[in-house]
Amino acid sequence: MSTQKALYLPELKGKLIIKERDIPEPGPGEVLIEVHAAGLNPADWKISELGILVTEYPIVLGLDSAGIVKKVGPEVTNVAVGDRVLHSGFRNVRSGTFQQYTIAPAEIIAKIPPNLTLDQAASIPLAAAAAAVGLYYRTGTDVISLTAPWEKGGRGKYAGEPILVIGGSSAVGQQVVQFARISGFSPIIATGSLHNETYLKSLGVTHVIDRDASLSALHTAVKKITAKPVKVVFDAVSFADTQNAAYEVLAPGGKLIIVLPSAVDEDKTTPEKQAVMVYSSFWGTERRELGKNLYAELTGWLEAGEIKPNNIEVLPGGLVGILSGLERLKKGISAVKLIAHPQENA
Ligand SMILES: NC(=O)c1ccc[n+]([C@@H]2O[C@H](COP(=O)([O-])OP(=O)(O)OC[C@H]3O[C@@H](n4cnc5c(N)ncnc54)[C@H](OP(=O)(O)O)[C@@H]3O)[C@@H](O)[C@H]2O)c1
Repeated sequence: MSTQKALYLPELKGKLIIKERDIPEPGPGEVLIEVHAAGLNPADWKISELGILVTEYPIVLGLDSAGIVKKVGPEVTNVAVGDRVLHSGFRNVRSGTFQQYTIAPAEIIAKIPPNLTLDQAASIPLAAAAAAVGLYYRTGTDVISLTAPWEKGGRGKYAGEPILVIGGSSAVGQQVVQFARISGFSPIIATGSLHNETYLKSLGVTHVIDRDASLSALHTAVKKITAKPVKVVFDAVSFADTQNAAYEVLAPGGKLIIVLPSAVDEDKTTPEKQAVMVYSSFWGTERRELGKNLYAELTGWLEAGEIKPNNIEVLPGGLVGILSGLERLKKGISAVKLIAHPQENA
């Protein structure tokens, strides 16, 4: 078989279409992955509808994948044909994950342990990347630069230090909570819907604050939980109202990690409290080392249950099901990752 089906975005704000395309060959350091489960992300509908993040078209959307290695290029030593792997894709035709076969650099893919299904595994990569970049990326001044758990003395290092996660039950928030637990943070305070309280606590959250309570009361609610200064706040929602409330909670010398551009009111900002935006891709050279380090740990963490996947819901209809899935994502989902099965279109 030399061709496959792929979900194309042919042009800026164009209509998504399914097309045949050649199955690509992996180059040096690359692998060809048969995508069995592709996770949907808010970025997919935002790229398609708002025209953000992409300058050259066509592209194949899709940033999360779990599948089977079908071919390895020269110089690949860490994975072999037949391995079950997860990774985060890239926004181009060759490496989007809403297709049956995709290409990825071998050094930023991780083997999936036997205790996880491919569907569960596909819920993890982009969210874990966002959490890891936000917390542990160290290059430049615009970073929070915590010691990562894989670095010397990093595991448990932040014992006794509080962290606040806005949107703990989002895909990104779930990973932030779990990394924070491995890093030792305590208490781990998260906002979310109260129907997700038990789930959030199973991931490591110690205190859940109702997301429906007034954000103007957030600071008071946090102060009731901890008297310590909160120097790390991760806003996995990053709307203007959550960013402003998060910024208010942040103590001087602390950093607010955001996943969308800064919307903190200018008249409230002070040099002592910095907002840092996450760019969660390991594909460029800047964050590649972080990606390699994360992926070197991830398989073991998943196998030990230290990092748990999101809840998953499989969409019917293979690649076609992604269209209605993106609509649902736009309207808002709760503590679940929507998963498509591209092989159903074979
Ligand atoms: N910068 C980057 O590199 C990067 C990377 C990945 C994602 N992102 C962005 O990060 C955001 C989150 O992505 P995701 O995939 O994690 O989203 P998601 O899983 O689709 O988010 C849904 C969750 O958000 C929670 N939520 C929504 N509004 C909330 C609020 N006001 N307060 C508290 N929780 C709220 C809901 O929690 P409840 O169900 O508990 O109500 C729900 O579970 C998106 O905007 C995405 O585009 C950015």
